[in-house]
Amino acid sequence: MRLTATLILLMAWCCAGYRILVVFPLPVGKSHSILGEGVVRHLLAAGHDVTYITGVPSKLSAPKLRQIDVSANKKTYKQEDYCDISKILSQEREILFDQTIARLQLMMNNYTATHEDVQKLMLDPKEEFDLVIIEWLFNEFLVGLSSVFDCPFIWLSSLEPHGLVLSLIDEWTDPSYMPDVFSKAVPPFTFAQRISELWTMARHKYIRWQLMSEEQVLFERAFGPAVAMRGRQLPLLEDVKYNASMILGNSHVAIGQSTKLPPSYVPIAGYHIQNKSLPEDLQKIMDDAKNGVIYFSMGSILEAKRMPETLKQGLLAILGSLRQTVIWKLEETLENVPENVHIVNFAPQQSILAHPNCVLFITHGGMLSTNEALHFGVPILGVPAFGDQFQNVNRAVQKGFASQVPLSYDLPRDLKVAVEEMIGNPKYREKVKELSLIYHDRRAPGSELVHWAEHVVRTRGAPHLRSPALLVPWYQKMYLDLFGLIFLLVSLSVFVIRRFVSKKIDVNKKNR
Ligand SMILES: *[C@@H]1O[C@H](CO)[C@@H](O)[C@H](O)[C@H]1NC(C)=O
Repeated sequence: MRLTATLILLMAWCCAGYRILVVFPLPVGKSHSILGEGVVRHLLAAGHDVTYITGVPSKLSAPKLRQIDVSANKKTYKQEDYCDISKILSQEREILFDQTIARLQLMMNNYTATHEDVQKLMLDPKEEFDLVIIEWLFNEFLVGLSSVFDCPFIWLSSLEPHGLVLSLIDEWTDPSYMPDVFSKAVPPFTFAQRISELWTMARHKYIRWQLMSEEQVLFERAFGPAVAMRGRQLPLLEDVKYNASMILGNSHVAIGQSTKLPPSYVPIAGYHIQNKSLPEDLQKIMDDAKNGVIYFSMGSILEAKRMPETLKQGLLAILGSLRQTVIWKLEETLENVPENVHIVNFAPQQSILAHPNCVLFITHGGMLSTNEALHFGVPILGVPAFGDQFQNVNRAVQKGFASQVPLSYDLPRDLKVAVEEMIGNPKYREKVKELSLIYHDRRAPGSELVHWAEHVVRTRGAPHLRSPALLVPWYQKMYLDLFGLIFLLVSLSVFVIRRFVSKKIDVNKKNR
């Protein structure tokens, strides 16, 4: 008797977790895999069973974790395609969301879905999931997984909320005051900026529309067989893509702008941050830094080996002339490094920023870096290179905890001026502490993540959060049908009046 009870309890305990499929297929750029791993960590800690489809396999290992390595999708994805530092330096090219990126992401997702191991998962009738969490990155192709496993899905959006992603659960943001995801503008906009934002929105919509039929064909090929095997019919991609239960956003109002958001969007920025201690050597360097530490890292996407030699030497000279200790994250070791400069191939960024002696962070301004700077209250000197980095840095400048220098061959000179101004002026540190307080004054983002994931499973897709805006076509939202009707009525009356009046005049004429 007691044994049965214990067994039942044990079973309830071991099977209490949900089976969750987490999908972060991007094979490049460490930041996305850091976000993916963060999701996996929190779900595992809450006792769930996690299958992780990833482009960057994680070192995490746990009895309830299974990884599916799709890093072979790198073949479709050449990093040089969109971020060549020497081209950015010479201002040869600007990265925009254009056909190239839209197509690149589609091809990568298609490769992921048709990957042997992913197909094996989908075609195994014993595999079932309660929830799919997919990173949204300029394409929605992988929602097919929710059709295969007949379960709800959640988007994880790595950026500040923007029209492309909000239109999937509610509606496009207002371009007159909400900048596009890659825009450099910060509201309030000038007349020209407002027009440019409107134009960008139209361009996004056109690009998506253009890809639609090709995408549908690939969608059927990738997911059709598995759905049919499970005895169902594959819905249209255009229908599934608007069927997300919600978006969990790597955003927070302290970093971004205050925006109206539907209840199905929950900001959880900072959920990936962990408290870890520094390695001994760095700990000593930072403890001993009497004048403070400047941490310099251009992120994982901009690689040092592509940086021109003159720029490297120029930076080394400038950094060496500073009073502060500098920790420079670079993938290679340089010669003749000044005494106050420490080059590290690997930098535990969060722990460096967490150290009280860290006084400034020189960064490319990626979403995670801006986030972590705010989390630990360190001012930013931004050197944006592409994508959302301009917007992140421009916002931080506007908020008052950052300054910006352009990525150019004059970087060393500009950097020196900016560093001296930022170290000398306390306003940056005061501002970042103030915003950091706002950033921390909320429920822990990790438990928020787990709560909403479980909520979606418990309520079978959270249909109560679904926005009615998804049911209203754009011309109805703009009341174009009403305008059409008014136009019709007015034209009709003009026509009738003309007829009637002219007849009357005719009659009058005849009577005369
Ligand atoms: C949308 O999601 C709900 C809940 O998960 C599901 O029942 C429905 O079949 C989905 N519809 C489409 C078109 O995917």
